[in-house]
This record gives sequence, structure tokens and C-alpha cells, in this order.
Amino acid sequence: MSYKTLLLNIEDNIAVVTINRPEKLNALNAQTMNDLDLVFDDLKKNELVHAVILTGSGEKAFVAGADIKELNKLDMNKAKEFSESGQAVFNKIDHFEKPVIAAINGFALGGGCELALACHIRLVSDTAKFGQPEVNLGIIPGYGGTQRLTRLINSGRAMEYTLTADMINAEEAYRIGLANKVYSQIELMDEAKKMAKKIASKGKQAVRMAINAIKSTDQLGLSEGQNLEASLFAICCGTEDFKEGTLAFIEKRKPKFKNK
Ligand code: COA
Repeated sequence: MSYKTLLLNIEDNIAVVTINRPEKLNALNAQTMNDLDLVFDDLKKNELVHAVILTGSGEKAFVAGADIKELNKLDMNKAKEFSESGQAVFNKIDHFEKPVIAAINGFALGGGCELALACHIRLVSDTAKFGQPEVNLGIIPGYGGTQRLTRLINSGRAMEYTLTADMINAEEAYRIGLANKVYSQIELMDEAKKMAKKIASKGKQAVRMAINAIKSTDQLGLSEGQNLEASLFAICCGTEDFKEGTLAFIEKRKPKFKNK
């Protein structure tokens, strides 16, 4: 399958998806949103893929936002559909059953920040800059940013960054929990691959159930969430990986999970 604005490389069970419009700082146009939608459908079906890394082409940007030339043509009628269809693509990533790691190699602004927020884990280069600068354009974030940023870094901080449009550097992003880890630009992809491989070496079912349980906290209260956790825990205990994982511990050896 080929994608007009993405590069896809699959190696050692890890898919690296690179948004590839470096001359426009990887801004998300309609084609890129379609390609992202499609690639995650394809990666879901691909049993060789156990984890996904999402990054941007070039050294300057992860994604510098929705394509402002396309935004400029929106009117009220088209805008709701624009926002909802973008939200649907990012929801697909957020609820993806395999781990999705964002390797944020520069600007992650507007839709780029929202895309990073939709990923499960954010690893960043020391040159990364996050921001929700939409108010500079007379709009608000429309791909889930008001919701996900608030949930991740708290309401006061989300208010500050969204209302001032100030950029957040890598150090600050790490301090406030927006970035999981900070690396040099050169180290970033290797470290993202290392983490993806580490996760891919665990029991596949257990990883999927953990993502499902953690993601459910967006929708469920504590009691409902714990009910779901108990059900998913029980499903894990019915897998061969569970038998192998516990037996390997008892026998003091490394587990040989089925998915490898
Ligand atoms: N949409 C469309 N094109 C974009 C873009 C976006 N969000 N962000 C950058 N570009 C394009 C620029 O128009 C320029 O294209 P050109 O060479 O054809 O003129 C190219 O990418 C390089 O960007 P440039 O602004 O020259 O780089 P810079 O280093 O001076 O500034 C930024 C980098 C990220 C600060 C600046 O590009 C910017 O503010 N981008 C918009 C960020 C934004 O508001 N995002 C939210 C959108 S909802």
C-alpha cells in the first residue's frame, strides 16, 4: 500500500510512519489526514506489526499544524465536518490496540500537538516545541486538543498554553508530563525503536489489554473502570502468554511469548 504524504517502514515488527511534507513542516492537509486514516487501518490488520512509531520528516518539525491554506477556505458549514473527521482519525490512533509512540523531532503545533496527544507515549528531541497556537488564527484547537491537553497536563496549564499560544519547549514539556522522555535529535529515533522493541517483546495480548484499560479512564469512572480492568485481567489469565510468563518466572528463565 502506498501513501502520498507518508513513508512507511516495517522492520523487526515495528512500523515507522513518517509524515513526509518537510517543505511545509509536515502540516496536515486533507491528503495527509486520509493517509493517516488509511495507514492505521492497514497497520491494524498487519499481524507483523506489534508497535508503531509516528514521526515527522526532516529535522525541523514533527507536524506544524493543520494546513493553514486549507483552513483559510473553511466556513461554518464545512468547519464542523472538518473538525469531526479530524477527531475521528486521531481517535483511531488514540484507541489503536497496538502501542503508538510519537517521536517528536521538532515543532508539534496545533494539529501536530493534537496528533502527539493522541499517541500513547511521547518521546521528544531537545529541539521539540509544543503549542496550541490556534487563537493566533482566530480559532480554537479542533482535533481534540482542548480535551486531551486538559486531561494530560491539567486545566490551568491547558488554559494558559491555549489562551496565550505560547510554545512549550522540551524541558518544560517533560516537567509538566507532556513529554515522557527527552533525547538529543540524533538519539531520538534509536531510543523510540528501543522502547517499541521492548514493548513488542512483552506478551502481545497483555500489552493490548493494558492499553485498553488505561484508555478506558477517558470514559469510565473508577468503579466502572475497575470492572473493566477485572474483565481484561481475566482474559489475560486465559492466554498461553500468561502460562508461559508465570512459568518462566518460576523456572528462572526468560519467557518465550507466542507473538515473537
Ligand atoms: N500550514 C501550512 N503551511 C505551513 C504551516 C501550516 N501549519 N506551517 C508551516 N508552513 C509552511 C510555511 O508556509 C512555509 O511554506 P513556504 O516556504 O511555501 O512559504 C514552510 O512551511 C516553512 O515554514 P516557515 O514559516 O517559513 O518556517 P519558520 O521556521 O520561519 O517558522 C513556524 C516555523 C512553525 C514557527 C511557522 O511555520 C508557523 O508558525 N507555522 C504555523 C503554526 C501554526 O499556527 N499551526 C497551527 C495551525 S492550526
